[in-house]
Amino acid sequence: MEIKTDIPGGQECAERIFKYTGHNFEPDIAKKLWPKILQHKWYLSEKLNRNVGIKVASIDLIENVEPMEKNSHNEERIRLLKDLGSQMIDRSVWDTISDTQPPKQIVNKRIILPLTETDLALKHGVISPKTIIFFGPPGTGKTHFVRAIAGILRWWYIEISPSTLLADGEDRMGANLKRLMEKVRNVDQTVVFIDEFEEIAASRDHASRIDKSITNEFLKQVPLLKKQGGRMLLICATNYIQQLDAALLRPGRFDCVIPVGGLDDQGRRTIFEYYLSSTNRGEIDVERIISMIPLFTPADIEYLFQKVRQYSFEKEYTKKEDCRVTTETFVEIIPKVRPTLTNEIIEEFERDCNRYTRY
Ligand SMILES: Nc1ncnc2c1ncn2[C@@H]1O[C@H](COP(=O)(O)OP(=O)(O)OP(=O)(O)O)[C@@H](O)[C@H]1O
Ligand SMILES: [Mg+2]
Repeated sequence: MEIKTDIPGGQECAERIFKYTGHNFEPDIAKKLWPKILQHKWYLSEKLNRNVGIKVASIDLIENVEPMEKNSHNEERIRLLKDLGSQMIDRSVWDTISDTQPPKQIVNKRIILPLTETDLALKHGVISPKTIIFFGPPGTGKTHFVRAIAGILRWWYIEISPSTLLADGEDRMGANLKRLMEKVRNVDQTVVFIDEFEEIAASRDHASRIDKSITNEFLKQVPLLKKQGGRMLLICATNYIQQLDAALLRPGRFDCVIPVGGLDDQGRRTIFEYYLSSTNRGEIDVERIISMIPLFTPADIEYLFQKVRQYSFEKEYTKKEDCRVTTETFVEIIPKVRPTLTNEIIEEFERDCNRYTRY
């Protein structure tokens, strides 16, 4: 949500604040307060995952977040969060992943529980991980997992992509990474996600000077991040775990290296039903369809639904009568969707699992 920059005059601000909260402020104080209310409206809306009205934001800021002297830290934090493009992810994303999926079980036991059951974790000396790598073939749901973790923890989700680091040219990539990480270290309750991780942490063995310096910068940043006391997770994802620098993969820098591979039947069923719930459906034999798509990734299932929906949409447009997606529609479309996973990719992934998995 964009914050308006055209701040009205002090008198007008005072009148608005009085109208919303019943509190009287001097015009010069009200003029300073108004932009803070707008900032707070954005913050509350993101945090609660709904559009909070200006009245609610005004009352909450003045009655709960005040006094303003103590608020400077909060204000700074909001500015930083906006700067980093932070988002609040809906809790429901977590439920779109089947409990039978091995990464979900690992994430739940190893990451979520130690952060939510803090007393028990302390009693048993369990330290919650701070740095995690997800690896696996394309479209298997790595990004989706990271968003789901942020959602279930109710933490901020901040995504860093190599392309944003590249914005000022390759030479500035290391410096941009450093600057960004410094900002990230100042906010807590955040899940920081670096996608296409191999782009910024590639093996230095045969790398160019620039690539080496980026990997070096990243190697310096990880311990600094881990030292930061706050509640924070750094999660990196890659399709090419073999390309990462060996120093990163040794225990110490990353606490967990978690594979995200193909789906089991229940995993496919959960995603299938998720997409089915927003499709103009007729009679569907879910079990029959699930048995027809053993190598489909979440991305393939999403694409399959895009095709069947387009099919029924066009059919209804032509025939001018209600057209529902049925088992037959899927039977016709499935052969036209090539699954991402092949036996070769699965074998390679299994070799990577044996070599790199650690949690
Ligand atoms: N459990 C799920 N329920 C519904 N949709 C899902 C689920 N998991 C993944 N998806 C969808 O499938 C698509 C692929 O998932 P995602 O982008 O997370 O894969 P990825 O492993 O990060 O892929 P890449 O390696 O290409 O980055 C996304 O559009 C995502 O929304
Ligand atoms: Mg991804």
